[in-house]
Amino acid sequence: MLFHALGLGLLSALVQTGSAANIFVSHYTGVVYTLTLTGSTLTQNSTVTLGGQPSWMTFNSTDRTLYVADETGSGSASVWSVAAATNGGLKQSGKASAPLGAVANVQYGGGNYLASAHYQTSIISTHKLPLSGSALQTFSLTMSARGPNSRQDAPHPHETIVDPTEQFILAPDLGADLIRIYRIDASTGKLIACTPYTDTPGTGPRHATFWGKNVLYVGNELANSVHAFTVSYPDGGCLTLTKFQTITTMPGGKAAPSGTKVGEVRVKDNSLYASNRRDLSFSPNDSMAAFSLDTSGTMTFQAITTSGGTYPRTFQINKAGDMVVIGDQTTANVVVVKRDVATGALGPQIASMRIGVAGHAENDDGLSAVLWDE
Ligand SMILES: *[C@@H]1O[C@H](CO)[C@@H](O)[C@H](O)[C@H]1NC(C)=O
Ligand SMILES: *[C@@H]1O[C@H](CO)[C@@H](O)[C@H](O)[C@H]1NC(C)=O
Ligand SMILES: *[C@@H]1O[C@H](CO)[C@@H](O)[C@H](O)[C@H]1NC(C)=O
Repeated sequence: MLFHALGLGLLSALVQTGSAANIFVSHYTGVVYTLTLTGSTLTQNSTVTLGGQPSWMTFNSTDRTLYVADETGSGSASVWSVAAATNGGLKQSGKASAPLGAVANVQYGGGNYLASAHYQTSIISTHKLPLSGSALQTFSLTMSARGPNSRQDAPHPHETIVDPTEQFILAPDLGADLIRIYRIDASTGKLIACTPYTDTPGTGPRHATFWGKNVLYVGNELANSVHAFTVSYPDGGCLTLTKFQTITTMPGGKAAPSGTKVGEVRVKDNSLYASNRRDLSFSPNDSMAAFSLDTSGTMTFQAITTSGGTYPRTFQINKAGDMVVIGDQTTANVVVVKRDVATGALGPQIASMRIGVAGHAENDDGLSAVLWDE
């Protein structure tokens, strides 16, 4: 009898872990949500109100902490940490003051520091963790001349990422057409600027992702393309990049429709994805572009599929590789699509849920970011 009850308990625990997954969502109205996906149903699990304009999240699954960037553009801005309980509960656990206009962050230095990109104020900042007080460092970025695109009036760093050796931070700078490179001082957590990679004028690099140690992909918001780079680590020197391929995010190598702005890029196994914001390829919805990667990392365009809403600002593939969560900013809906583990193909849609108030095209409102809780 006792054995029987234990057996049933174990079985039901297995069924639950196999079928439910949680998703974190940030909304520009100042709220972070946990959603639960059960089969093909999304439900709201819990929320925490941070205030400001949450624009991006980084999740550390070891200590279950979310680091939330604040895009607030006037007055004062913060960076928050949120403790995410295994039961879905969210609670603010820390806060520091930060430069205005943050759009991304990343944890580095054995979990002891956070580096953030501030688009509006042309700043890269670092904070010591846990968060309190103010920034450890702020780099005010400069550029020698305006770029060809009207948005290239000043440096506009859009993301901070750590390389796989954890010795460098890279920051695509949309305004300056640079991939900024910093060496991490392991003893102080401080960043030391290296020579940046200079890209073609008008490229507008926004997001980047490593594929192994020696390949980097960068999604370009202004040129609506993806660049592939070989990454080298000279002995005792700074990381260097060598571009080896450029590809557009549209079928047949076509240029994206005017008004399109490539969003995030992500890799999984031998697949690469980029989100096309405002391409309206599946009108009124936008699209996700998928590429296959050969053993050297060379990209081949595969397909575009619907993003299930407009302005897919962020997306993430789950660890199992069988689902992708997409955050459509303007329509403020979270979409989960199936991913074919063998081919990398996306679709069909599994679930969609509207979160909070919808945004307005081209505004910093609506839904900002999505991440799997794993
Ligand atoms: C919240 O998520 C946890 C963890 O997956 C789950 O056990 C719980 O049932 C969820 N609660 C709601 C209200 O969805
Ligand atoms: C996540 O947190 C753990 C525990 O604090 C830390 O050891 C680890 O380095 C962190 N991970 C990252 C990627 O910073
Ligand atoms: C657009 O997205 C919505 C919500 O996900 C979906 O119901 C609709 O079928 C989509 N339409 C197209 C043409 O992709």
